[in-house]
Amino acid sequence: MCLVAGLLCIGSNYLMAQSNAASSSPDRIILNLTAAGTNSVAVSWRTDTLVEKGFCEWQLSPQGPVASENTRQVVANTQQLVYTYSNEPAIHAKQHSCTLKDLAPGKSYIYRVGDGTNYSEWLEFSFPAEDQEAFSFLYFGDPQTSLKSQWSRVVRKAYQQVPESAFMLYAGDLINRAGKDREWQEWFEAGRFIFSSTPQLMTPGNHDYDDRTLDPHWRAQFELPKNGPKGLEETCFFIDYKNLRLISIDSAAGDELDDENGWEMQSQVAWLDSVLGNTESEWIILTTHLPFYSPKASRDNASLRKHFQPLIEKYGVDLVLSGHDHSYGRGMASDSSNPLHQPVYVVSVSGPKMYEAGDKDWMKRKGSKVQLFQKITIAPGKLNFEAHTANGELFDHFQLRKVDGQTELLD
Ligand SMILES: [Fe+2]
Repeated sequence: MCLVAGLLCIGSNYLMAQSNAASSSPDRIILNLTAAGTNSVAVSWRTDTLVEKGFCEWQLSPQGPVASENTRQVVANTQQLVYTYSNEPAIHAKQHSCTLKDLAPGKSYIYRVGDGTNYSEWLEFSFPAEDQEAFSFLYFGDPQTSLKSQWSRVVRKAYQQVPESAFMLYAGDLINRAGKDREWQEWFEAGRFIFSSTPQLMTPGNHDYDDRTLDPHWRAQFELPKNGPKGLEETCFFIDYKNLRLISIDSAAGDELDDENGWEMQSQVAWLDSVLGNTESEWIILTTHLPFYSPKASRDNASLRKHFQPLIEKYGVDLVLSGHDHSYGRGMASDSSNPLHQPVYVVSVSGPKMYEAGDKDWMKRKGSKVQLFQKITIAPGKLNFEAHTANGELFDHFQLRKVDGQTELLD
């Protein structure tokens, strides 16, 4: 009896280990935007450790069958990792990344990844044409829990409603337990080919860190810009996408920036000052996990406001997109008695973990117990914002307009 139970236990551990193990076939294929925005894209994927090399093949999207003579090839940077979490079986994997460069605006491309024997399917992406004035992107608050069973609804509904989305942006807490490979397996299963067709951007949340250490999956499986302060590459960065400068501040670093004199806070404040003071982009959006103003009654991030809000107001940031509070809140506010400018602050949630939005003055619109995705459309002089529920219904909307260099809110 004991022997049977033992074998069952070993067998179930083996099966559980295999559910998220890498194989010789590429999986977890994901596109990330580069700092340059629209003329290059980064591709990352995973295999088992027996795969010796990785490369990406790509060409302009043909009308029919793929013609091999049109294919270009780029060799990936490959690194070997062992992911461990608690007493779960270790996951041994190779992570491959490469960048496709010199892409033409307005064109569609197909690509596949592999090692010469095993390949992914041919996948497709495109960038807007130079004379295409408007583009949309999707923004999600925390996915975090029930990633496969419930968060999948939201990312798939968002893709159905906005298939042309230029990229998808996550405001942190992509999973619940940093380093837990099984949760990353769920995250990738939820997004599947969407992640390999629409470039993804993410800023980390506190759940993407474990005791001040970033989840080792982050820099291995994503290829995000390295133009932030030293030590915060791929978590604090900016991209320029047409007339938008999008900035990620890593508010989860340094245990949620708990030391206001710590290097994580001080280096990002100095860096933000430089990147806000050095842009001609018409629209500026900042994303960071912790909300500047919290919907939840018991929460407040005064230190974040103290250090970053003066810069946001000085340089006229239009929109601040956050997560962390598992509810929805949207409004304008300032800690200054005489602010020159106020951005719109938004807090949202995409996964099913829920908190109650409290009774706070800063919120013009709030929501509890709703999973949401946001469609943000940017055009010269105009920014349109829509929040939609998990079943696709419009939940909130507003518009920003640039009038004589000033931003006006219409809602
Ligand atoms: Fe969080």
